[in-house]
Amino acid sequence: TFTTRIDAVAPARGTGDVPAYDTPAMAELRAWVDGIAALTQPARVHWVDGSRAENDALLRGLVGEGKLIKLNPEWRPGSYLARSHPSDVARTEGRTFIASERERDAGPTNNWADPTAMRETLDGLFQGSMRGRTMYVVPFSMGPVGGPLSHIGVQVTDSAYAVASIGIMTRVGDAVTRQIAEGAPWVKTVHSVGAPLEPGQADVPWPCNDEKYVVHFPETLEVYSYGSGYGGNAILAKKCFALRIASVIARDEGWLAEHMLLIRVTDPKGRAHHIAAAFPSACGKTNLAMLRPTIPGWSVETLGDDIVWIRPGEDGRMYAMNPEAGFFGVAPGTGESTNVTAVETLWGNTIFTNVALRPDGDVWWEGLTDTPPARLTDWQGRPWTPDSDEPAAHPNSRFTVSAAQCPQIADDWENPEGVPLDVILFGGRRASNVPLVVEATDWSHGVFIGSTISSERTAAAEGTLGELRRDPFAMLPFCGYNMGDYFAHWLKVGRSLRFDRAPRIFQVNWFRRGDDGRFLWPGFGDNSRVIDWIIRRISGEVVAVDSPIGRLPRREDLNLDGLEIAEADLDELFDVDIDAWLAEADSTEEFYAMFGDALPAALRSELEALRYRLDAA
Ligand code: GDP
Ligand code: PGA
Ligand code: MN
Repeated sequence: TFTTRIDAVAPARGTGDVPAYDTPAMAELRAWVDGIAALTQPARVHWVDGSRAENDALLRGLVGEGKLIKLNPEWRPGSYLARSHPSDVARTEGRTFIASERERDAGPTNNWADPTAMRETLDGLFQGSMRGRTMYVVPFSMGPVGGPLSHIGVQVTDSAYAVASIGIMTRVGDAVTRQIAEGAPWVKTVHSVGAPLEPGQADVPWPCNDEKYVVHFPETLEVYSYGSGYGGNAILAKKCFALRIASVIARDEGWLAEHMLLIRVTDPKGRAHHIAAAFPSACGKTNLAMLRPTIPGWSVETLGDDIVWIRPGEDGRMYAMNPEAGFFGVAPGTGESTNVTAVETLWGNTIFTNVALRPDGDVWWEGLTDTPPARLTDWQGRPWTPDSDEPAAHPNSRFTVSAAQCPQIADDWENPEGVPLDVILFGGRRASNVPLVVEATDWSHGVFIGSTISSERTAAAEGTLGELRRDPFAMLPFCGYNMGDYFAHWLKVGRSLRFDRAPRIFQVNWFRRGDDGRFLWPGFGDNSRVIDWIIRRISGEVVAVDSPIGRLPRREDLNLDGLEIAEADLDELFDVDIDAWLAEADSTEEFYAMFGDALPAALRSELEALRYRLDAA
C-alpha cells in the first residue's frame, strides 16, 4: 500500500507546523485538514508531532487556562487533575450513532442514522464550532507504528485535554504522519467540544455542549464527535476507532476487534498462558489485567486492559495484540487492597479526571484508602468531609496513564505480532444465576455464552445503575455493525482455527451476591484461584463436572488454601437454579428475536440444546 518511501522522520520540535512531506498522499491529508478548518474556522491549526516539548507546552497551557490543576509534584510528579462539566462524565450511548448506508448494517442494537442526513446535521454543528480555539491535528497509531496488525489514523480536535490524553493512550507522532505521506491507509476522526469562543469571550475550565453526537461512518472509515470532552467520546482512537470502526474492518478482513483485557499467566511449572477477557465497562477488566495472584507460584504480566485485536494465525491459533499504549481506568475502587498494581502505576505522569483533591495537592477517591481524609475538595470543586452525602470522586472518575508505567507490564507488550491466545473469558456483573466459573463445551457453545452475556449497569455510561441489560461480548455499545452478523463472524473465525488450537472459552462472574447483598466471592487477587482452575483444565490436569449450562469445577479442584470462605457461600457461588435458568433461556429467546434473520442458526440450536439439558436436569 505504500506508494512513496520517505527516509527520515521530520525533526520533532513541537512548533505545530505542517510536516514538510511532499507527496500526493500528504497533499490529500493537508486538503482534508484544510477542509475541516474551513468548516470549523479555528483561530489556528497545530500539527502535533508528539515531542516532549510539545506535550509539556500543552500541559502548561492547560494549567494556565485553569483547565488542569497541577498536582503537588512531591506526591504525584508530572500529574494533573481535570474537572469536567457535571453533565459530561461518561459515554453517551443514546447519542452514539452508526451511519451506515443500510439501516440493516447498523443492526438492532445500535442507533442508526442516514449518512446523508447525518452529514448535513454534522456540517451544521461543526460550522464555526472551533472559532477562537486551536485545532490540533493528531496522527496516531493503534499498535506499534508499522506493525503488521497496526492501524493508523488522524484525529482533528479543538480540545488540548484530548490531545494530551491521546498522547498517553496511543502512539502519536511524526512517524505516523510519515506513513500517511507514504500512502498508508488511515482513518479520519474529527472532534469538537462544540464551544466556539467569540472575540473577548472568556473560556470555561471544561468546554462542552448540551447537544452531543458521536457518529461513525463505517463505509468510509470516519468518526465525528461533537459536544463532549469525556474520554470515551473524545479519545476517538479508543472506543470509536479501535472498537466500532475496527470491528467493521475486522469483519471484512477475517479478524476480531474486542473489548477485552489481555494477560500472560505463568503457572508454578513455569508455563506461560495468554488469557483475554471481555467484561462490560466498569466490570473488572483493568483489575484483572493487573492481577496479583494470592496463591503461591503464579505470576501475571499485563498486556492490555481494554481492547484486543485478535487474528487467526497460519498455525491455526489466534494471535492477540493490545492496540493501545495506555490505560484509561476507573479510579473508584482502585486501592492498595484491591489493585495495588494500578496504585503503583499511578505514581506520576497521570491525568486524573473528576477525582477529589486533597489539601496537600494529591488526589483521592473512594476505595483508594479505607479511611477518607478529613477534608477534601470534591470532583466539582466543592468542600467535602466524610460526613458529606455524595462521594468525593465521581463514580466514573478516571486516570489516564502510560502502560509502560505499570510495574507488571510484560517486557514484550509492544511486540507487534501479538501473543498466541489460549483462553477467552466472558463475564459481567450478575448478582444471581451465573456461577463463579463455567467452561464452554466448544467454540459454538462459547460464542453462545458470549452472545447472551448480561450485566448490571455501571456508571461508565448514562443509564439507571444496577439495571440488568444484555451486553453480548461486552460489545453492546462498541460493535460497529449488525450484532447478528457479529455473532456469525465469531462463528466463522472459529472455523478458520484448528479445532484443537482454538482458545478455550469460559464464563466468569466475580459479582454474585448472597441474600444479604454482600459479594460471595472475595474477587480481585483471589480471582487467581479461578485462573488456576482454568489453566489446569486446559492443561488436562483436572476433570470437570457437566451441568446444563456448561462444565463446572469439582470442589476439590479449586485451590482455596488460606481463603476464609463459608461452605454455604461456595454452594451458592456454584448453584445452578434450573427454574431461574429456564427463565434466563426465555429471556435469551426474546433477546435473540430482535436479530431476525441475522441470528445464526447455530446459536438458535445452542439455545434449544440448553433448554433440552435444563428440562432433563
Ligand atoms: P473496567 O472498566 O472493566 O476496566 O473495570 P475496572 O477493573 O476498572 O473495575 C471496575 C470496578 O469494579 C471497580 O470499582 C473495581 O474495584 C470493581 N472490581 C473489579 N474487579 C472486581 C472483583 O473481582 N470483585 C469485586 N467485587 N469488584 C471488582
Ligand atoms: P471502560 O470504558 O469502562 O470499559 O474502561 C471507557 C469509556 O468509558 O470510554
Ligand atoms: Mn478499564
